[in-house]
Amino acid sequence: MKLGYLLEDYQKTGIKIPLNIKLAKKTSSVLIAGKSGSGKSLSARWYIGNLLTTGESAVYIADYKGGEEYESFEGSSSYASGSDAVTMIQDFYDFFVFVRQNKVKLETHYTLFVEEWFGLLTYAETQSKKLKAELQAKIGELLAVSRGLNMGVFICVQRADAHLFDSGSREQFQCVLSFGRCSAEQFRMLGFSGELEENPTSGYKPGQALVLIDGQESVQEIIVPQISNPAVLEREIRDQLDRQPGLAALISGTAEGWNRGQTVRTE
Ligand SMILES: Nc1ncnc2c1ncn2[C@@H]1O[C@H](COP(=O)(O)OP(=O)(O)O)[C@@H](O)[C@H]1O
Ligand SMILES: [Mg+2]
Repeated sequence: MKLGYLLEDYQKTGIKIPLNIKLAKKTSSVLIAGKSGSGKSLSARWYIGNLLTTGESAVYIADYKGGEEYESFEGSSSYASGSDAVTMIQDFYDFFVFVRQNKVKLETHYTLFVEEWFGLLTYAETQSKKLKAELQAKIGELLAVSRGLNMGVFICVQRADAHLFDSGSREQFQCVLSFGRCSAEQFRMLGFSGELEENPTSGYKPGQALVLIDGQESVQEIIVPQISNPAVLEREIRDQLDRQPGLAALISGTAEGWNRGQTVRTE
């Protein structure tokens, strides 16, 4: 999957040098942090389009806020907004438990994409403390174990505070992105090292981000391109979302034309 293009080359020469990650068994869980307006959601949509059209991963979206950038996915069984976003997380977790218990070898990678994690947790807390704890524990377990099963989690959040995650879970992301202006506090929270002052971080525009990938020593600067024709991308994503089986069907084995663990066909 393409995270974006190296910022310096892009700005200086216009050359697009992609920064790639491989989800399957490697960089399966990604944290996308950044203040409101920093470009998280638009980049997220680009990433989802990337994953689906290349067939790198099936994607299930839990979007509590029901953002307008996801409007065209409404009604797909692979997209849930509002309180249904909670169910989407629970269903993905149930699928994960099913895969683990039955030792299913997934050929395709499966990704749970959670938008506005803080908002979703806050909502869960208004329902019950138990629900909030349950969601945190499930995401924590997915982050800790799902990579080996060919599954992963993407989480979008404004501030990557430790209290939003089960103990230690925040460190389980193999890739961390910080969009827009990155405060010194956020810089530390994300586990970035080095001097913030040395990075032109404070000047970052929407769609520009700092990235730290597991196994790589230094933080890199990237830019996610502005999508020239969002309607086309949205239609492509929607088509793919409609083609992948719902989680309930995967768990019950009733996904028509799909064996559990089958590869996403991209044609
Ligand atoms: N890749 C990009 N290139 C240029 N502008 C962008 C890019 N991504 C986002 N923006 C601008 O920033 C605004 C906020 O983006 P959005 O993805 O909604 O941010 P967030 O989800 O972090 O609040 C967009 O309406 C757009 O104007
Ligand atoms: Mg957003």
